[in-house]
Amino acid sequence: MAEAHPPKTVTVTYEGKTFEMPVLSGTCGPDVVDISQFPKQCGLFTYDPGFVATASCESGITFIDGDEGILLYRGYSIDELAQHSDFMEVAYLLLNGELPSVQQKQEFVHNITIHTLLHDQMRTFFQGFRRDAHPMAIMVGVVGALSAFYHDSLDIHDPKQRELASYRMIAKMPTMAAMAYKYSIGQPFVYPRNNLDYSTNFLNMMFSTPCEDYVVNPIFAKAMDLIFILHADHEQNASTSTVRLAGSSQANPFACIAAGVAALWGPAHGGANEAVLNMLRDIGHKRNIPDAIKRAKNKNDPYRLMGFGHRVYKNYDPRARIMAQACHDVLNVLGKQGDHLLEIAMELEEIALQDPYFIERKLYPNVDFYSGIIFQALGIPTSMFTVIFALARTAGWVAHWKEMIADPMQKIGRPRQLYKGPEKRDYVPIHHRAQKHNKHVASF
Ligand code: CMC
Repeated sequence: MAEAHPPKTVTVTYEGKTFEMPVLSGTCGPDVVDISQFPKQCGLFTYDPGFVATASCESGITFIDGDEGILLYRGYSIDELAQHSDFMEVAYLLLNGELPSVQQKQEFVHNITIHTLLHDQMRTFFQGFRRDAHPMAIMVGVVGALSAFYHDSLDIHDPKQRELASYRMIAKMPTMAAMAYKYSIGQPFVYPRNNLDYSTNFLNMMFSTPCEDYVVNPIFAKAMDLIFILHADHEQNASTSTVRLAGSSQANPFACIAAGVAALWGPAHGGANEAVLNMLRDIGHKRNIPDAIKRAKNKNDPYRLMGFGHRVYKNYDPRARIMAQACHDVLNVLGKQGDHLLEIAMELEEIALQDPYFIERKLYPNVDFYSGIIFQALGIPTSMFTVIFALARTAGWVAHWKEMIADPMQKIGRPRQLYKGPEKRDYVPIHHRAQKHNKHVASF
């Protein structure tokens, strides 16, 4: 019989008293200290800005080993999934925990496909936006607005409604994303075509018009599908944590995903792919790379190498490796081997990876470094890059939201703080207040 090990604990001594906290082990990755009873035991809270040391939940969806550069969806490596799978299968895997059988996959694809159409009244919703609105601004609005149209999938306590909401979200994201694009360029919306696969349908809605069919290049559709797989999930990142936090208050699923879209938009997260392409265009020529590197290293300059660095990866992001290869493949097929921006990106990467600043801080290219170049080759405008990230990440967001709702340990998310504001003080009537802090009021 295997020898039983005593449970692991961490002991904290504070003001002469000793407190013990259990250590929990997952299937992979570092152990975690369970501090949930810490405030009750010793009256202290923990302080961890940016949650750099905090596991916010238990999850069985995605595992990242940042030091080794490993990413697993439900135990399967991203490299194998990228090579052998497709986005629909990956979405099924994320949502259900196992790869589907042939029949399960057919049913899943059917369930997604029959929900691609958007309530027709939502078309008028788009008209309320300015034509020059950023498509992510439109997405934040219209994804949240789904809650106003699909009342039969808002009850989070009903597993059937949760399922329906999940299908709807994954199915309608490409439709809404393409509509946001069409609106911005003044073209009519293109309805989904349910005889096309997920990625081909998306490209068709983006690029066909009522006067001209768009023949989707299967290589483009395959590249798009790969991009969807690589972006489908990434553990407890900012947007997924936002979806979970919104969901913890029992908000409806569409509102939660809209919160995720908002969090993804920032340039430190999903907005980085757009920022990378802008950065490469600004650099403009290989001879300007040293200046860009110099600026990125200057602490007094907010400039950063976009597409470089990651909170978790302290090694090459495995998605970046696959993306770089796909980038070469797509450009080769298009006969654009010597793509100007790709050449700048490759040289920038090479120089940065030899620079002590980037080596010491373990800053490597992340998923966004090469994705923009593929998007550009596929004819996707820069402003749509983050929208496509959101579309793909919806599978992960929905999987996390469902996992959270079904978790018996789930409670409303409510972090505490280290308060540094004024202590309690007496109210001062307006005419007795000192004016030194109010620079807009003339002093006499
Ligand atoms: N260029 C220059 N310096 C950098 C960069 C960069 N891209 N990233 C980090 N650093 C430096 C940073 O200044 C700091 O230096 P020091 O220790 O001297 O103060 C050190 O490296 C650690 O950085 P950090 O900001 O503490 O790390 P973080 O984990 O808080 O931030 C990050 C991670 C991704 C926000 C950051 O690396 C970054 O801003 N990268 C550029 C934006 C980007 O590419 N984002 C996409 C992330 S991957 C896609 C996704 O998950 O959404």
